[in-house]
Amino acid sequence: MTKYEQLLQKLPESPKTWLITGVAGFIGSNLLETLLKLDQTVVGLDNFATGHQRNLDEVEGLVSEQQWARFGFIEGDIRNLDDCRGACEGVDYVLHQAALGSVPRSLNDPITTNGANIDGFLNMLVAARDASVKSFTYAASSSTYGDHPGLPKVEDVIGKPLSPYAVTKYVNELYADVFARSYGFNTVGLRYFNVFGKRQDPDGAYAAVIPKWTASMIKGEDVFINGDGETSRDFCFIENAVQANLLAATADEEARNQVYNVAVGDRTTLNDLFEAISEHLNRNGVSYSKQPVYRDFRPGDVRHSQADVSKARELLGYEPQFNISQGIEKAMPWYIDFLS
Ligand SMILES: NC(=O)c1ccc[n+]([C@@H]2O[C@H](COP(=O)([O-])OP(=O)(O)OC[C@H]3O[C@@H](n4cnc5c(N)ncnc54)[C@H](O)[C@@H]3O)[C@@H](O)[C@H]2O)c1
Repeated sequence: MTKYEQLLQKLPESPKTWLITGVAGFIGSNLLETLLKLDQTVVGLDNFATGHQRNLDEVEGLVSEQQWARFGFIEGDIRNLDDCRGACEGVDYVLHQAALGSVPRSLNDPITTNGANIDGFLNMLVAARDASVKSFTYAASSSTYGDHPGLPKVEDVIGKPLSPYAVTKYVNELYADVFARSYGFNTVGLRYFNVFGKRQDPDGAYAAVIPKWTASMIKGEDVFINGDGETSRDFCFIENAVQANLLAATADEEARNQVYNVAVGDRTTLNDLFEAISEHLNRNGVSYSKQPVYRDFRPGDVRHSQADVSKARELLGYEPQFNISQGIEKAMPWYIDFLS
């Protein structure tokens, strides 16, 4: 039995109280669904900056009435320290997901990104520390590897950030480390690598590549590839990221105050991704016959990304359960349903 399987057995027997910030977003709402199904008590905090009430409504429909009754939602903003303090009251484990994602958004509006991602992060650290929570797990990012060309990415070797977003995520790691040293406060940073799956928003100027392309294909619109299509990423299905969060929150002392890559350890080019999505849509009865439209590379994007996940394997017991193809297969029916 894997460490995660053991944890899934253990949690319902001794339920805990979890705080998920960014609960109305993509990763947050998937964490919520898993934790409620495990009979945990969950507090959620979100200001709906990029999250949606519909994500919470969908989770309500996927759990029992009893499980839903264990969820308390606070509409609030992590930039407000009082909101953070209120949310942390009586909480065992914090899963801090709230932030403004997207490299292009941060290039267009670095001040707003900084407010949520750095001021908000620091507020959450202070509130969680003062509430004496057991652990503080936070969403870090593969963007922290910046301009370092080495592959696969290992946690200790990073380059210079390529965008304001990457700066904010690196600052999170620095603050978390200082809180461990200065106050003995337990944190774990999870450097997500292109997480994807159901409820990832396909709309808006800052949508991520998989939901954006999937929506375009379902609607029969053009799909745009930035650059030559040989840019590559380690696409990580949401269930792997959920697993990493639960393992990190409950990790032993020796695994704390660290950052971990959360990915699969594979690399897929954008050209191959285009083929994979169109093939899986086809299997679900949606055919897309257009060729992709190539355009300029996007500023701030790293060229290649692939994680070494051995640190998470060794210290957290993380075992990614889904590769990109299995993840796309699971995600496509949701998008077809959502967009039709
Ligand atoms: N999805 C990925 O591939 C990926 C990769 C690396 C890192 N991350 C990080 O993971 C986290 C979750 O990302 P996601 O993909 O679920 O994005 P998302 O936009 O779907 O979710 C973020 C949530 O945070 C909320 N939020 C934003 N600012 C807030 C504020 N000031 N106060 C309260 N709530 C606020 C939003 O409303 C939203 O519900 C983020 O920290 C993001 O930077 C995501």
